[in-house]
Amino acid sequence: MKRRDWIVKTGMAGSALFLNKYLYSTSLSANQEADNLLRNDFGQDFRWGVAAAAYQTEGAWNEDGKSESNWDHFSRHPRKIERNENADIAADFYHRYEQDIDLIKAMNFKIFRFSLSWPRIIPGGTGDVNRAGLDFYHRVIDKCLSSGIEPWVTIYHWDMPQVLEAQGGWTNRKIIEWFSEYADVVTREYGSKVKNWMVLNEQLAFVGNGYMLGQFAPGKKSLNGFMKAVHHSVLSNAEGGRIIRKNVPDANIGTTFATTFVEPVDQTSKNIEAAARVDAIMNRLFIEPCLGLGYPVETLPILKKLKALYEPGDEEKMVFDFDFIGVQYYFRTIVKKSMMPGMRAKEIKASDRGVPANEMEGEIYADGLYQILNKYSKYKGIRNLIVTENGTCVPDKLENERVHDIERIEYFKNHLAAVLKAKKEGVNVTGYFVWSPTDNFEWDKGYRTRFGLVYVDFQTLQRYVKDSGLWFRDFLK
Ligand code: FCB
Repeated sequence: MKRRDWIVKTGMAGSALFLNKYLYSTSLSANQEADNLLRNDFGQDFRWGVAAAAYQTEGAWNEDGKSESNWDHFSRHPRKIERNENADIAADFYHRYEQDIDLIKAMNFKIFRFSLSWPRIIPGGTGDVNRAGLDFYHRVIDKCLSSGIEPWVTIYHWDMPQVLEAQGGWTNRKIIEWFSEYADVVTREYGSKVKNWMVLNEQLAFVGNGYMLGQFAPGKKSLNGFMKAVHHSVLSNAEGGRIIRKNVPDANIGTTFATTFVEPVDQTSKNIEAAARVDAIMNRLFIEPCLGLGYPVETLPILKKLKALYEPGDEEKMVFDFDFIGVQYYFRTIVKKSMMPGMRAKEIKASDRGVPANEMEGEIYADGLYQILNKYSKYKGIRNLIVTENGTCVPDKLENERVHDIERIEYFKNHLAAVLKAKKEGVNVTGYFVWSPTDNFEWDKGYRTRFGLVYVDFQTLQRYVKDSGLWFRDFLK
């Protein structure tokens, strides 16, 4: 969700513009078909899941031997998180995972994608393993399996032991060894039960927001730090794939990328080129080196700085042949040229364009998901795509134990229609995971923005299935 912020905060927020209407005409095109969607249209083998992350849901931040994470640390600094909230308790998944997995089952999903907390498993970052931490995920995995739900595990979804962040985190080249050790421990531990793995969640988000914009943990703002974190995360991503392959030979191995559909504000060449530069950062920077294409330096020359960081052998080590690529899509980005050094582009915000947006100011634009699936399917070397996250935050109101989140249902229908359109046209998209099963801690937005199919009252921690959850229950029946 943070790719948008990335552009805005790099000085790309724009002034109001009168836009050509045709830009929006496709946004509603999915509507009629969307109302008639059937699960069977997607085929028997299509994978339906929900996705969540450790820091956003678990709470229990210092229980059973878990150490402080970079996010525990960051969220304690005043004004880093809206309303100064933190995820010490979050949705209390640590104590309520059984109920949450029961709810996932009740909504008829067959896959639960969740992440592991590195500081829970290796509190010192490297070295001693915490048995109680490992056991927690055994309980979660076992509960999934006994409920007929496949556990899909993300190794890293942004929470790192603070002791490693204090040594530079992703900017320190040693992260490749630290991360490899952690990936080795968890794949050996769970490999006999877990066959579906994802290495990293959205490098762009944790690298861009964490080391360039200061908006995410660890709150750094440095172009050099950003470049290092890019390169080290690219190497770690591929290395993670190799470690899973070695330890779990029959695994289905993927990784996930943040995406947004980028379009120029008009068809002038200066704005088309500006959009191409933004697209290079938002959609190409991390996938292309992993496919052996290197960094998109021709489109965005500032990325040449990455070359200076190469050590012998890096070019090959950046590549890994993933079984699937996870695409995460939330909004469209409209761009025009600006004088800003580096990107020479700025975003025109949804609010300045008067278009439908979520509560984080991301434009709601279902056709963008269709476009992104098409774009990614054109890369040689991508075998299949899974939408590993898609969802929206709307102002939910709990009334008489119900949440009538009509807008969210519409959002899902339109985005599913976009997926189906791509699939029917031959794009190899094999699954769709909703972000997220329950409301949770939305990073720097805290608890303000809710993405769940299940409403969480953060005072009582009671759960209430929203109408969107009931819609999926019926749709997936
Ligand atoms: C994605 C993140 C996920 C969640 C959603 C709303 O970018 O991967 O953790 O915050 O946005």
